Amino acid sequence: MTHKDEYYNKAKQQGYRSRSAYKLQQLDETASLLDESATVIDLGAAPGGWLQVAKERVGDDGTVLGVDRQRIDPIDGVETVRGDMTEAEPRERIADRIGEADVVLSDMAPNMTGEYSLDHARSIHLARQAFETALSVLAPGGDFVVKAFDGSDLEAFRSDIEPEFQYVRTVRPDASRDESSELYLVGKGYTTAPLAVGEETTVEIVDTGHEGDGIAKVEGYTLFVPDAEAGETVAVVVEDVKPKFGFAERLD
Ligand SMILES: C[S@@+](CC[C@H](N)C(=O)[O-])C[C@H]1O[C@@H](n2cnc3c(N)ncnc32)[C@H](O)[C@@H]1O
Repeated sequence: MTHKDEYYNKAKQQGYRSRSAYKLQQLDETASLLDESATVIDLGAAPGGWLQVAKERVGDDGTVLGVDRQRIDPIDGVETVRGDMTEAEPRERIADRIGEADVVLSDMAPNMTGEYSLDHARSIHLARQAFETALSVLAPGGDFVVKAFDGSDLEAFRSDIEPEFQYVRTVRPDASRDESSELYLVGKGYTTAPLAVGEETTVEIVDTGHEGDGIAKVEGYTLFVPDAEAGETVAVVVEDVKPKFGFAERLD
């Protein structure tokens, strides 16, 4: 029996709508994505295997929204939107329904032509649509998972994602093994920092933190500056950047 058949049979026995369900389980086990109570958006969700796994893992207090251009049969406790993610309208509907999301997943795949470079290019195009959606709905610290077919445009796509997250890793779940070119890029910790590590700037200290550090706000982002007092204007260099706050050292 091939690997594919094995997961297909298992999905039938366990009541999952697709063998892809095991890919999401394995991605979650590798990258800790689906916390209890989380808000999850799943793009390219039909027939719904990932939605079933996501709902099980986020529980009754979590929110799961699935989007696909194909119809998704109802799943208890899961919302669905029918739409084409290459158009703007579904993205707006998602933002209206959900507000902010903790996790954006995309298992979107193009209709295969069998011509490898074309299928690869289309897969990267869909992955970019998912990335744009992630940027518009992810909460700071949120995670992004996107399927792509390996090939010449992958590295450029990865370099575009990298600055937006604390780190990005490539995961090839065991359940994907028979689809040799398929992989998932996982971006952990969406970072909204308007500054990069090493950047120098001048900030005004507006408050003092619990530990006595000065606090500056840069476009709403919190920067902690040790040895600086409220009311001072100081030249700093950015030392560390977390999703919701960063640290900088005084230069003077
Ligand atoms: C591999 S299947 C997803 C399987 C799903 N993760 C599951 O567990 O059941 C890929 C899905 O991407 C959807 N898709 C492809 N292009 C899309 C697009 N432009 N907008 C929305 N969905 C799209 C397809 O309709 C298909 O249902």
